[in-house]
Amino acid sequence: MLARLFFLRYFCKIYDTDNKHRNMIKKYPFYSLLSHNTFGIDATAAQFIEFQSESELTEIIREGVTHPYLVIGGGSNLLFMNDYEGTVLHSAICGVEVLTDNEHEVLLRVGSGMIWDDFVAYTVEQGWQGLENLSMIPGEVGAAAVQNIGAYGVEVGEFIAHVDTISIADGSSRRFSQQECDYAYRNSIFKTVEKNKRVVTYVTFRLRKNAEYRLDYGNLRSKVEEKGALCPMNVRMAVKEIRAAKLPDVSQLGSAGSFFMNPVVSSEYARKMARHYPQMPQYATDDGKVKISAAWLIEQCGWKGKRVGNVGTYEHQALVIVNYGGATGREIAAFAKAVCDSVKEKFDVMLVPEVNMVE
Ligand code: EPU
Repeated sequence: MLARLFFLRYFCKIYDTDNKHRNMIKKYPFYSLLSHNTFGIDATAAQFIEFQSESELTEIIREGVTHPYLVIGGGSNLLFMNDYEGTVLHSAICGVEVLTDNEHEVLLRVGSGMIWDDFVAYTVEQGWQGLENLSMIPGEVGAAAVQNIGAYGVEVGEFIAHVDTISIADGSSRRFSQQECDYAYRNSIFKTVEKNKRVVTYVTFRLRKNAEYRLDYGNLRSKVEEKGALCPMNVRMAVKEIRAAKLPDVSQLGSAGSFFMNPVVSSEYARKMARHYPQMPQYATDDGKVKISAAWLIEQCGWKGKRVGNVGTYEHQALVIVNYGGATGREIAAFAKAVCDSVKEKFDVMLVPEVNMVE
């Protein structure tokens, strides 16, 4: 099997479907997804297609995409349960175009296939504010806009001006304004009514100059102060240090970051929980509800640092499930279910995975 994969990977034809973009559309049969998911699952896609421009994507759609299909970014939020019997589509549209740069703001149009942290590094190097708290999050720009990635008190949706997409059904394009994206905690229209219908091609970001830094999360402020001046680069450095201490490096240890979302409960329920568990971390949300810490719930159930076979929770962050090597998607999912069941039993709270499990 491996020999066959190796052969197909290196000797299969790279189809030239568009003379204007010679050898740009890449189509591979029986393609290993090992380097396309941070959990390190060695699943195979029946077909893998990569495009480098909107016109290549419309060409692919015109020729017909075999169903089922799956659009992936960096695979940092995916868990493959089996080999994928359909088409995996991946954007390799890269690059940053500066649309506006005045004294108040900068407007940047970014290809969906750009590595998220390379983009953040670029904005920080320019001295532009906004994305520094979102440093070192694995994944690509398109997926960041779909998932509304967040960390250290910032969610990316607030910096997105609009998202350009192409419909897989008919190749038509549609631009979604920030409001139309319907951003909420780890959620957007691309995960609800538009789920699996569109491919994100470009994301346009609006970064305000002289915006306020957001440093009130955990020990971020003191870490930045240790570094000296308050500037995007020092915030990025502080965030990188905090993340490196708490989260595994996905190039060393397979994981998808936080496996579950933090549950949002009613204020009555949160008050009841606080009476029983005064130590429970709780955070008020804008709509009068309360976000409770999934990591804390998991730790209280005795799962922090616990390992079953090749799967476990990370020793420094209970919300992260890790593949110690060789685990299958099913083993990881079974471990996650056991964690979820014990939290449900002890706290009567249902954890919802943030990770997308692909059958
Ligand atoms: N906590 C524990 N046990 C742990 C870890 C944390 O009790 O093992 C408690 C902490 O004491 C704290 C609370 O849980 O009161 C929150 O912990 P932390 O600040 O580490 O953040 P998190 O809620 O666990 C979220 C995001 C992360 C993001 C961090 C920092 C989700 C699902 N996760 O984690 O995002 O980096 O905040 O902003 O919202 C990701 O999505 O992959 C991710 C890493």
